[in-house]
Amino acid sequence: MIIENNDETKAKDLSAIMVIFGGTGDLTHRKLIPALYNLVHDNLLSENFAIVTIGRKTKTNEEYKNEILVSLKQYSRNKIEDNVLEKLNNILYYYELDFTKVDGYKSLKDYLCNLDEQYKTNGNRLFYLAVAPQYFETIVESLSLNNLAPGEKGSKKLVIEKPFGKDLKTAKKLNESLLKVFGEKEIYRIDHYLGKEMIQNIMVLRFCNPIFESLWSNKYIDNIQITLSEQYGVGSRAGYYENSGALRDMIQNHITQILSLVAMEPPVNLKTESIRSEKLKVIHAIEEFTPESLRDDVVFGQYGKGFIDGQPVQGYRDEDMVLPQSNTETFVALKFHINNFRWAGTPFYVRTGKRLSTQAAQIVIQFKSFPDILYFKDRIQEPNLLVIQIQPKVGVFFQFNTKDFTTLEDIVPTKMETSHVAEMQGNTPEAYERLIFDALRGDATLFTRWDELEASWTIADQIIAHREKSKLIFPNYDSGTMGPVKAFELLARDGKKWWTI
Ligand code: BG6
Repeated sequence: MIIENNDETKAKDLSAIMVIFGGTGDLTHRKLIPALYNLVHDNLLSENFAIVTIGRKTKTNEEYKNEILVSLKQYSRNKIEDNVLEKLNNILYYYELDFTKVDGYKSLKDYLCNLDEQYKTNGNRLFYLAVAPQYFETIVESLSLNNLAPGEKGSKKLVIEKPFGKDLKTAKKLNESLLKVFGEKEIYRIDHYLGKEMIQNIMVLRFCNPIFESLWSNKYIDNIQITLSEQYGVGSRAGYYENSGALRDMIQNHITQILSLVAMEPPVNLKTESIRSEKLKVIHAIEEFTPESLRDDVVFGQYGKGFIDGQPVQGYRDEDMVLPQSNTETFVALKFHINNFRWAGTPFYVRTGKRLSTQAAQIVIQFKSFPDILYFKDRIQEPNLLVIQIQPKVGVFFQFNTKDFTTLEDIVPTKMETSHVAEMQGNTPEAYERLIFDALRGDATLFTRWDELEASWTIADQIIAHREKSKLIFPNYDSGTMGPVKAFELLARDGKKWWTI
């Protein structure tokens, strides 16, 4: 998680050709190429490194690079400097291939072998699947049939984007297909939230600060809230989203991963498998839902029209490519119980949604309050809150009580904040930079192991089955609000409220 020894990192063989399937796609333009630009900028790539982006359209290298430049200007966190751009352009190649047809891969192999000579990359490959999930298996099988897979000279790694299946059954099937070709240790399943600075910081905050870790349990923590709220609507992704919904899109992966980092036991060391095993135990300890808890503790929502920052926006059912009667959820709030010694009795509330009033990702730890005696005999007691701000603010917020200087006896909550707004700071590394760098140096800590995914699909499947049986009356929240009323009632019933810091 933390790079402990830079010399060790430097000593590793980072030479490789990174082969991106989906080279003309949105992800490559918005995230991967800007991340690679910034890795070049920060001098983190090996001299023996090249990038081949694969697309079905005919275009020259020059045309591709011109298109990329437009995206780079828009999405790179560092300004575009001519010398850095030149370095990137010198290692970037566009290759036309219809990756659904197995016969094109033979020429791809020859092409990569030629680049091996030029860049001294020893046959090392990082295959990155930035394509729609229906192509994952075809591509991997074609790599295998054309001797591009493990077993040939050099290391072979596979980075795979979400969605990893649409339920446990399809995830298992996909995993089995991948494992026929790549070993578990060669598969890097991306959850881009794990590459975000403050998500990596959860372990540091907990295990480097006795002040927090000694209070980190049901004895002192009243409840924990994870909110990933977006102002964006579904945009142009309805084709995918209609078959996914917020539960598969955000809860099964990002939120379950965050939850496991917040709730895990300290690992015995900082090695990849030790950390992943502790995370897995948390997911295993999540209490199974009962018909009653599914009914009472899970809230689905879909946005109707409304206003975002004063601008009118349409409802989900009016979005491009969405069915007018669609029952896809764009919001989920739910309560998890983690049934282990540390957490039994402390609820974990999570919520995520599109077209909400705020664009923010944060984890709120609400500490237990004192009894209403002494100072709080006749005053409202504000709880201690520790807020891990993931984005757009990046940092930590802490709320504690002090005496007000200006009056004789008031007690006021004091707010201490270390956060900065990432866009303004401009220099918080993007998740994808970290993840690509880690995959190149063979560190899978920030990628999801199969058994973690399997466990999280088991939970998600239960909720999906319930959703499919439920009679949902959608839309049930206006764009620009924080979701359906029921999401507020979920906490109010427990005498609590959502915190938005
Ligand atoms: C993706 C989801 O995994 O995460 C999107 O598919 C969502 O629907 C996105 O918008 C949010 O990521 P971020 O990094 O913008 O918070």
